[in-house]
Amino acid sequence: MRIPFEPEYRRRYFQLLEEVFDSNFWSDGRMLQEFEAEFGAYAGVPARAVANGGTGLLAILDYLDVRDQDVVVPANTFWATAQAAKKAGAWVIYADCNREDLCLSLEDLKRKVTSRTKAVIVVHIGGHIAFQIEDIADFCRDRGIHLIEDCAHVHGGWWHGKTGGHYGFAGAYSFYATKTMPLGEGGMVVSRDAGFLEWLERYRNYGKEIVNGKVTYPLKSGFNYRMNEVTAALGIIQLKRLPLILAEKRALAAKYDRIFANRLKFPPGMISGYYKYIVFDYPQLKMQTGQVFGLGDLGPVIEGVEADVPNSYWIAAHHQCPPIYYGWEHAQKEVAELREVLLEDG
Ligand SMILES: Cc1ncc(COP(=O)(O)O)c(C=O)c1O
Repeated sequence: MRIPFEPEYRRRYFQLLEEVFDSNFWSDGRMLQEFEAEFGAYAGVPARAVANGGTGLLAILDYLDVRDQDVVVPANTFWATAQAAKKAGAWVIYADCNREDLCLSLEDLKRKVTSRTKAVIVVHIGGHIAFQIEDIADFCRDRGIHLIEDCAHVHGGWWHGKTGGHYGFAGAYSFYATKTMPLGEGGMVVSRDAGFLEWLERYRNYGKEIVNGKVTYPLKSGFNYRMNEVTAALGIIQLKRLPLILAEKRALAAKYDRIFANRLKFPPGMISGYYKYIVFDYPQLKMQTGQVFGLGDLGPVIEGVEADVPNSYWIAAHHQCPPIYYGWEHAQKEVAELREVLLEDG
């Protein structure tokens, strides 16, 4: 049987751990620097690591100072997106998504934006880039509104040479255990704003600054959002494994494409990282596979507030996700089982 975490990469990870032990640097060391440099090179946008994806979003929102301002958040996302805005002191305004890509709808965004809107968060749901991202970015730029990208799902998602974090002021990736590039816990913030990245280095370390050996705390909002060396070392290895993981996911997706006619279809040039494979109206799959987000995950449902987001409710009721994890042997079994389920149900 094929082992999902290959022995060769385990060995390389253990070698890096030896280096960590030898250096006796457990935080803020070489692994962090290398992981940030390599992730930045991969994404094409400078990167700084943080403790997780949620705190990455919080850092961006705190820097932009959204307190008592409106932040538009898609209803169809994980609660972390809205919760980060709330923690930063913003008022969350829920916007709808498109049925075609499950991501923020430009048309509804235009309806929800007001003079109080300070920022908009777009979430690249499922592993592909939001189809309307360029128009959303143009709209936000014209209105003087900050665009933030929630990139928790988008490892390996590319469109016309750009991945998540290219379009807005900053983007936040998650390396949570279930993500396409898992570290157990971890996050990465990407941004071309050098001043923000410098600020983030202090913010993630309780606002601490050391100049000529003198310690000061110029930032009052900072907290501990650091990534340790052991996690950063795993990040270096997982980034090297990412092409392998993506290749298997894409091969499985190509097989699913032949099974599922009613599926999320991509525009020309879109490359998905397939965090999820999304199909519509295959209720027979619901119990055994899962969804990106179900009704109970949607922000307005969690908060118990009214929101005019009909497509988000439709998607929660109508989409399913056949499994698409890494591990070829396992994947073959999933395809065979799904064929059987679908054949049984006609
Ligand atoms: C869309 C989205 N945003 C943010 C997060 C938060 O990431 P983390 O769990 O690393 O804080 C997640 C998932 O965990 C997510 O799915």
